[in-house]
Amino acid sequence: PLVHGTEIFQAARKGHYCVGAFNTNNLEWTRAILGAAQEKNVPVLIQTSMGAAKYMGGYELCQKLIEATVKSMDITVPVIIHLDHGDYEAAKEAIAAGYNSVMFDGHDLPFAENVEKTKEIVKLAHAKGISVEAEVGSIGGEEDGVVGEGELASVEEAKELAATGIDFLAAGIGNIHGQYPANWTGLHFDRLKEIGEAVDLPLVLHGGSGIPQDQVEKAISMGISKLNINTECQLSFAKATREYIEAGKDQEGKGYDPRKLLAPGTKAIADTVKEIIGWMGTKEVK
Ligand code: G3H
Ligand code: ZN
Repeated sequence: PLVHGTEIFQAARKGHYCVGAFNTNNLEWTRAILGAAQEKNVPVLIQTSMGAAKYMGGYELCQKLIEATVKSMDITVPVIIHLDHGDYEAAKEAIAAGYNSVMFDGHDLPFAENVEKTKEIVKLAHAKGISVEAEVGSIGGEEDGVVGEGELASVEEAKELAATGIDFLAAGIGNIHGQYPANWTGLHFDRLKEIGEAVDLPLVLHGGSGIPQDQVEKAISMGISKLNINTECQLSFAKATREYIEAGKDQEGKGYDPRKLLAPGTKAIADTVKEIIGWMGTKEVK
């Protein structure tokens, strides 16, 4: 069933585990993520960036497509439809379209304005039971046009943003969107520890692709309850599709049929999601 994010992530923070948040781009991606979560019997958050929602035809279509897919696949684990890195307008649109959860990402605004706008989104969202994520500091790199300097989150600002009534908090702690550079020095655990002690909300780790498992496990022990994964699925999809084409399989029989051509990549996404859920240690649904 579709659920809001509040209880799922509160339970994760309390129980010292993490729930996966995976980005979707289309029907194949959606089916792969939902099928993997069902197989692992865990709750899952499926999210669209503003760019992906635009690509797919808008928030309403995204919401309806994911909802209908949950139904047609008989998905029984809890599913949260979430807006990833939304600006103010996008958050309002996703709320109106019936998303279960939204991220308002105000990292590029002056901090006082980030706080004010977050409060407004919380008010609109909570009137419908919709959960809200906000961002303090920023995530390095770029994702779908959202660019960050990788500014380390301040503990004081984390407390202030948490006080707006949000349900979970994303903090910049040296994490980066996309592939990590070879000279990356790792997560800032000292700062994460301080934020985790100052704020009892579920914390969100963006840029999950490519962070070594031991660092993710350590981060979970300090309050990370939501792990965002996008690039890892894109890489798996691209690799499997390339192998299919390079092996000439699109030229055998009717291998060029899009349903055949997209199948290896779709399976690769499902395998990647299952693997990540496995090592992330999400607690199974009873
Ligand atoms: O918001 C989405 C995530 O932070 C994804 O980051 O592409 O590095 O996995 P990633
Ligand atoms: Zn992100």
